[in-house]
Amino acid sequence: MKTTARILTAGALLALGTMAGCGGGQGDSGTGSQTGTGGTGAGAQSAAATPDASQQAQQIFSTRCAACHGAEGYGDGPGAAGLDPKPRNYHEAAWQDSVTDEEIESTIVYGGAAVGKSPLMVANPDLGAKPEVVVALRKIIRGFGKQNN
Ligand code: HEC
Repeated sequence: MKTTARILTAGALLALGTMAGCGGGQGDSGTGSQTGTGGTGAGAQSAAATPDASQQAQQIFSTRCAACHGAEGYGDGPGAAGLDPKPRNYHEAAWQDSVTDEEIESTIVYGGAAVGKSPLMVANPDLGAKPEVVVALRKIIRGFGKQNN
């Protein structure tokens, strides 16, 4: 039993040694250049995705949010007429001062009902996986407040 184990171990060590010896030399050039190419590709993709977040947010705001909040954030979108409560005017400095970035962001993702506001403010669960887009949406909302009108 013991002898067999030793032979097996020796065999395994030999096999490992041979594989490492062989693979090491070949692998260096092969794997190295492959990793380099893959890395550059992925890097270029994620670098392009970051500035895109604000574009995505602009698009989401005009297609999903403007219906109620208005394209300019006055709370006067066509869908707001029948709402009670109505979406607020984002240009109000007093509201901008009263709310934290986190409150704005969680209202966007989880909806009004989850944060003690009206359920008329719908949740956007898909944005839970895109925190950078949520941040960009919050910046759009903050931007309306800075327009000072
Ligand atoms: C169906 C109409 C509707 C849509 C669509 C909608 N909202 Fe709202 N939203 C509301 C209403 C109504 C309120 C006010 C809720 C309240 O005051 O209780 C609100 C509140 C909010 C608030 C909280 C403001 C506050 O009073 O503190 C944020 C932030 C917000 N919405 C962002 C968004 C964003 C971003 C989108 C698009 C992804 C969006 N909303 C889409 C109706 C809507």
